[in-house]
Amino acid sequence: MNSKEKAARSAYEKIESKFHKDFILGIGTGSTTNYFIKILKEENPEMKCFVSSSIASSNLLKDAGYDDAELNDVGGPDVYVDGADEVNTKFEAIKGGGGALTREKIIASASKKFICIVDDSKIVKKFGNFPVAVEVIPMARSYVSRQIVAMGCRPTYRIGFVTDNGNQIIDVLNLNFDVPYETEMKLNKIPGVVENGIFSARKADVVIVSDGERTYELE
Ligand code: A5P
Repeated sequence: MNSKEKAARSAYEKIESKFHKDFILGIGTGSTTNYFIKILKEENPEMKCFVSSSIASSNLLKDAGYDDAELNDVGGPDVYVDGADEVNTKFEAIKGGGGALTREKIIASASKKFICIVDDSKIVKKFGNFPVAVEVIPMARSYVSRQIVAMGCRPTYRIGFVTDNGNQIIDVLNLNFDVPYETEMKLNKIPGVVENGIFSARKADVVIVSDGERTYELE
């Protein structure tokens, strides 16, 4: 079992007793989340339905026999499980390497609890190595990029990638991370930005980390 799978297994064990006929699961996107979905397929716990952050994760869970629900039709998931690209010791995260950041942030925000599962390479003192994905309305891409350059940052258009919402992604380096919350808010104020991959306003409640040997919760 690799470290991503171990973190996923530990998350499953943490919430195993909470699954019941009315349980609603929020599910993220990415390779670590896929391990969590694989465990659900094997263990087959009872739940009412799931709310998914991507078509890819929806398909995997539907294959496992679970019902896909619209967030609009359910009150809010009991637990949201997802990976991250970077996590700091305040439980803030950078997400969106897979481009699903907007739905991920919506579902994480709507959920009672956000459990973040990562291998230990994702734990950082300060954000900055991993580019922040910014989802933009297609006609605003160049304008948003110019605004980001004016902030002293480096935007790169993720060529050929279309989000599940029909939008485009700009990956941004050189952002100021002294206060991640401020940068998250600043990016979202640019007209044409749908959402960005800084999870500070809605950070994780629990971060489960594995280095392959040891699996532990961040404190
Ligand atoms: C998807 O958009 C991302 O937020 C993923 O959750 C993140 O990139 C982690 O991916 P892995 O689990 O594949 O490392």
